[in-house]
Amino acid sequence: MASFTSKFQSFSTPNTLRRLQISRRHVIYGVVSFAFVLALYNFLPAFSHAYHNEPFTGKVPLRPGKSQPPPTVPEDMIDWSGRANEVKKAFRHAYYGYEVYAAPMDNLRPVSNDGIQEIDGWGVTLYDSLSTMLLMELHDEFARALPVIEQQDFSKTLIFPPKTQEPGDHIAFDAHKAQFIPFFETVIRYLGGLLSAYALSHEFILLKRADDLATKLSGVFDTPHGMPAYSVNPLTGQPSNRTHTILAEMATFQLEYLYLARMTGKKEHHDRVTKVMDIIKHKTLVDTYGMLPTEWNVTTGQPEITGHLSVGANADSGHEYLLKSYLLSGKVDKINLELYVQTVNTVLSSLLYVSPRRGLLYVTDAAPINNATHQFEHLSCFFPGLLALGVHTLPDAAFDNESSPKAVSGNDADELKYYDWKELHLLAAQGLAESCYQMYEDEPTGLGPDVVLFDGGELWIRELKKWRQGGMEGTPPGIHAKKMTEVRHGVDDYGLLSQRYLLRPETVESMFLMWKVTGDVVWRERGWRIFQALEKEAKTSTGYSSLYDVTNPGYPLMNDMPSYFLAETLKYLYLLFNDKDLVPLDRWVFNTEAHPLPIFNWSSWEHKKFGIA
Ligand SMILES: *[C@@H]1O[C@H](CO)[C@@H](O)[C@H](O)[C@H]1NC(C)=O
Ligand SMILES: *[C@@H]1O[C@H](CO)[C@@H](O)[C@H](O)[C@H]1NC(C)=O
Ligand SMILES: *[C@@H]1O[C@H](CO)[C@@H](O)[C@H](O)[C@H]1NC(C)=O
Ligand SMILES: *[C@@H]1O[C@H](CO)[C@@H](O)[C@H](O)[C@H]1NC(C)=O
Ligand SMILES: *[C@@H]1O[C@H](CO)[C@@H](O)[C@H](O)[C@H]1NC(C)=O
Repeated sequence: MASFTSKFQSFSTPNTLRRLQISRRHVIYGVVSFAFVLALYNFLPAFSHAYHNEPFTGKVPLRPGKSQPPPTVPEDMIDWSGRANEVKKAFRHAYYGYEVYAAPMDNLRPVSNDGIQEIDGWGVTLYDSLSTMLLMELHDEFARALPVIEQQDFSKTLIFPPKTQEPGDHIAFDAHKAQFIPFFETVIRYLGGLLSAYALSHEFILLKRADDLATKLSGVFDTPHGMPAYSVNPLTGQPSNRTHTILAEMATFQLEYLYLARMTGKKEHHDRVTKVMDIIKHKTLVDTYGMLPTEWNVTTGQPEITGHLSVGANADSGHEYLLKSYLLSGKVDKINLELYVQTVNTVLSSLLYVSPRRGLLYVTDAAPINNATHQFEHLSCFFPGLLALGVHTLPDAAFDNESSPKAVSGNDADELKYYDWKELHLLAAQGLAESCYQMYEDEPTGLGPDVVLFDGGELWIRELKKWRQGGMEGTPPGIHAKKMTEVRHGVDDYGLLSQRYLLRPETVESMFLMWKVTGDVVWRERGWRIFQALEKEAKTSTGYSSLYDVTNPGYPLMNDMPSYFLAETLKYLYLLFNDKDLVPLDRWVFNTEAHPLPIFNWSSWEHKKFGIA
């Protein structure tokens, strides 16, 4: 593979400094405050890492140490609630732009100041914004949204152009007729948005509309094995006859349907989940490497033979919901727990690599398992946060299972037995979250690219083995990677496959979870830098826009503000800076669109009624 040369050069030009308007005063201030913070970190026990080193158990002790902080002002001089308020202002700016220029269409186009239909045509930005409004206490905005929801008819869709139509749907477009709507997007944004807003506000109409919507969607499960089809016509209930599906689309509805079953008492919602989980558990535990494959056939209920494995595009939330379904229903579902732990062990031993020069830890995809692409996607940057959430919430027993790694193929997995898994998961979380942030820090815009391609590298598990056998000197591999400026001039470890920044949330989501789980303020500081870059590079007069080119400050914007920017990106930033624990992780679970749902316990009656083991 060729080395990548373009990025370093753009950093070394004097223009960069001018563009950043760095003055001598800034530099002196930065150096002085950096030295001060460094001193604090070294001498004050209160600043020590919240990472607790357990008594030695015969496993290799892992001490990741403190994350290297970006230069910052002393912690006690930072007005975090002021920063949270800045995010709230950003949300109001974006939502106001949507209301004025785009509603009732789906999304705002923040450069041309008009609207566009993208997901079902029911005004997705409104639905996706509800839970964020409630957490930010934007009561006027919420009050304006309720009557719109009250009048919603989910039979008709108004999509034009029919962007979500797929080959196999074969429906001629007609703006006044129902169209095929994508199941996955509809569940995570509309259904998740309604249910979360219901949980936060207790407005009954929201639950009523959630149940209406699930009823309109129910035809999507009319397939030979009960696996959801890609899309459904909400007017006729007809499922798409497209037979190919992907993990994320077929296995990202458990949270929403479990909570809906709980709140409505309807067994049918619970049964949808059971059927798909039966397929999943068989495949993971019996037929695969302990990790769910990406591509599936709806007709056969079997994975495709490509053997593609990933935590990124097309798979991501399928893995995420294993842990989260276990957490949502009061930690009773041991199958989901086992699937989650095995999945992570497979990822840690097969899909994590360390880059050759800078030592950046990254997660990639492979087809089959030993044939890695070395791509690293922004979408995968939720994964460190998920690992941290697991470390924070799972019982210790989940991490101590000598027999589980045997389910993972290959000799590399044997290395897992030398470590305390809880420590190992947190170490991987830290290394990956640092890399996800570094992707932003490396760019002149301060915003990260959508996909990069690494110049190979070595499996993390093999680097760990070398480190362990070499006496565990210094920090473990994949932690505290080198900056671009510390490696040989002109050669970087990765190149950009997509230079876009699509206002995606995954990196700030992981900054939020790393902050909650480790208590290390450096994650807050990193999130603040990202927010400042958003304000500087993505803000328009009516909202915020995706970027075509993260390497090029001031380049024309994409004229696109996806609803997840309001649902997720701004929500996680707000929660990261807010000093109040608004969404405690032991009481709420975020769906994959960042809509929090409350953790509950099934009663004995529900156990009997829904057939819960
Ligand atoms: C899929 O369904 C459409 C009608 O919705 C039909 O016209 C088309 O022939 C079907 N395709 C297949 C492969 O069955
Ligand atoms: C899915 O399986 C069915 C039945 O074997 C087959 O007819 C169909 O072509 C398969 N779909 C894909 C996308 O391979
Ligand atoms: C541990 O292994 C046993 C036996 O294989 C299995 O029954 C159990 O579910 C596993 N637990 C976890 C958390 O993986
Ligand atoms: C490895 O993956 C590439 C695509 O990334 C594919 O072209 C190649 O056939 C795969 N090799 C094997 C042995 O499957
Ligand atoms: C669920 O039950 C456990 C004990 O089994 C209890 O600790 C927990 O507080 C309960 N959670 C809720 C939300 O009621």
